[in-house]
Amino acid sequence: MKIIEVKDQQAGGQAGFEIFKQALADKAQVFGLATGSSPISIYQSLTASDVDFSDKISINLDEYQGLAGTHDQSYRYFMNQNLFNAKPFKESYVPNGLADDIEAETVRYDKVIANHPIDLQLLGLGQNGHIGFNEPGTSFDSQTHAVDLTPSTIAANARFFANEDDVPRRAISMGIGSILKSKKILLVAYGENKADAVAAMVEGPVTENMPASALQTHSDVTVIVDHAAAAKI
Ligand code: GLP
Repeated sequence: MKIIEVKDQQAGGQAGFEIFKQALADKAQVFGLATGSSPISIYQSLTASDVDFSDKISINLDEYQGLAGTHDQSYRYFMNQNLFNAKPFKESYVPNGLADDIEAETVRYDKVIANHPIDLQLLGLGQNGHIGFNEPGTSFDSQTHAVDLTPSTIAANARFFANEDDVPRRAISMGIGSILKSKKILLVAYGENKADAVAAMVEGPVTENMPASALQTHSDVTVIVDHAAAAKI
């Protein structure tokens, strides 16, 4: 894994932006995208630039079950606000959290990924080491699947909702197996509450109890961290 340590999230945004620009120069067509606060500075750098995604495809990692794309905490809404409104893609895929048949939705989403192999996958990192919504214990071979969120993830994400009871308990997530098929992976993590997960991801044993440790098995992973998140490496 290549580690880039930056002074703050803004500098991380610039470093991540350079990696997106290089991917575009290398003719990347399909971008795997992520939500959460950590990728926002990359999206800000992208929207402030002249990059053009209008003939590219984006595939997002995950979505809450039960939230419409118009709900201000849905990941579809987040992506529209933070990137797509300013930088539209030719096609942008996000799992449909309102699908009547969630199983069928996961199958549909796997077909989307199979038809559009991901050139660059952006990831954040959960405090418990989750990537996407792949919680500890998820198989490294997993494909898109329905997820019961852990209490710690529900608590961590409650800051975005009026109260913790409003946080959806379930989500749909791209699997770890699908993430590992991406040609390149870029993970961003900031702040001291990510330091344990960063250390376990980079140096800890490769175990399904620490989903991000799966990235040690991939040959092209770049991690952008600030000093606080890098403190335990
Ligand atoms: C959510 C998302 C993850 C994200 C994580 C960390 O659980 N499903 O994809 O990585 O939050 O978010 P943040 O970057 O806000 O710490």
